[in-house]
Amino acid sequence: MINVLIVGSGGREHAFTWKASQSDLVENVFVAPGNAGTSLEQKAENIDISASDIDALISFSKKENIDLVIVGPEDPLVNGITDKFKKAGIKCFGPESAGAQLEGSKDFAKAFMKRHNIPTAGYESFTNAYKAKKYIQENKLPLVIKADGLAAGKGVVIAEDYETANKTIDQFISETKFGDASKKIIIEDFLVGQELSYIVMVDGSEYLPLATSQDHKTIGEGDVGLNTGGMGAYSPVPFVNDELDIIINKEVIEPTIRGLSDDGISFRGFLYAGLMIDSNRKPKVLEYNCRFGDPETQPIMLRLKSDLIDMIQTCFSGSISDYEIEWDNKSAMGVILASAGYPESYETGKKISGLYELSNIDDVKVFHSGTCIENKDIFTNGGRVLCVTALGNDLNLSNEKAYSAVKKINWDGKYYRNDIGF
Ligand code: AMP
Ligand code: GLY
Repeated sequence: MINVLIVGSGGREHAFTWKASQSDLVENVFVAPGNAGTSLEQKAENIDISASDIDALISFSKKENIDLVIVGPEDPLVNGITDKFKKAGIKCFGPESAGAQLEGSKDFAKAFMKRHNIPTAGYESFTNAYKAKKYIQENKLPLVIKADGLAAGKGVVIAEDYETANKTIDQFISETKFGDASKKIIIEDFLVGQELSYIVMVDGSEYLPLATSQDHKTIGEGDVGLNTGGMGAYSPVPFVNDELDIIINKEVIEPTIRGLSDDGISFRGFLYAGLMIDSNRKPKVLEYNCRFGDPETQPIMLRLKSDLIDMIQTCFSGSISDYEIEWDNKSAMGVILASAGYPESYETGKKISGLYELSNIDDVKVFHSGTCIENKDIFTNGGRVLCVTALGNDLNLSNEKAYSAVKKINWDGKYYRNDIGF
């Protein structure tokens, strides 16, 4: 039996905690720092250490004999959490900082794709605002402007007119809106098609594709308004058939893993390709993430019948491509309940009702994101608060089940999109 440490505090980490605590291989699950939902899972305990305090996480892991660390968010990966745990002799699932650059620097990722012939939108990178504006003038809009570094999902602007483009360039480069992360930008061609989240597990050389999913990024119904971390997700995605699946693996995933190896970068962890599938059913990479998606994790974990911990252990000890993964054939839908005002300013500390009543309903699981607990009462503590996730025989049925549960949960200022999965 092993002790597991899960790093992070969102819905993704709650879903990992829920799966880990069901594993026969696991004795204790610690979550740093976790949320109300993680603290309520059997075998699980929250630890008051921030996901960014790598040294404190290592000291804790030595003291508590942690055998396996699973990292949820990108920041600690980009900042070298896996490199440091490796030095300390503790297994940490997630790429070292060199591999995490696929997410940590868009310019790195674009150059990587160009070098290894991986399909993606054409682009140029800039550190000079004047040159960037000149490029915009010489090219047709819309164009997509992206901060090079991590910007919590807010560093991408689709510029439909010159005014927006110029303003964005000023904000990113001259006013360093995201600090060092936006001193460099890339400007890329606008792609049309259907978006798809394609996530695989990588053991250093081999890979295992996980179930497909799609998330809804904007705050407003009909995919309008500001970008968020994701307002809902579902799995599997009906338009992905075996043929498209093979194309994605041959044209995107395999060249990516080969490219990493050719560049001398070892990568063990979740690799997430955010794809645009065009009308000829050809994929192009919009972005890489060096971790699982949030909220994609929640519906995918609800469908995963295999033992997640056994799968991760296999990535350390054997070949993950041979793993006989088992899925629930049902469809899973996750709807995010957020605080009114998110992704801009919002209030926290609102008492949530209806959660305990939902805890015994078959095929429904409420994963927590921004929540905290005080004497069994659960309060809002973030922008994205809960992900109400349900299984159903098809997308419509999982949708009905999720939304009927959504209506049973209340707090002052609850917001959600009614069109997840449509
Ligand atoms: P990213 O963080 O790079 O995935 O961008 C966030 C979102 O912006 C994506 O999920 C897309 O909806 C959109 N986006 C990014 N790049 C492009 C592009 N080249 N063409 C069209 N939409 C894009
Ligand atoms: N849901 C998108 C992401 O995790 O980046």
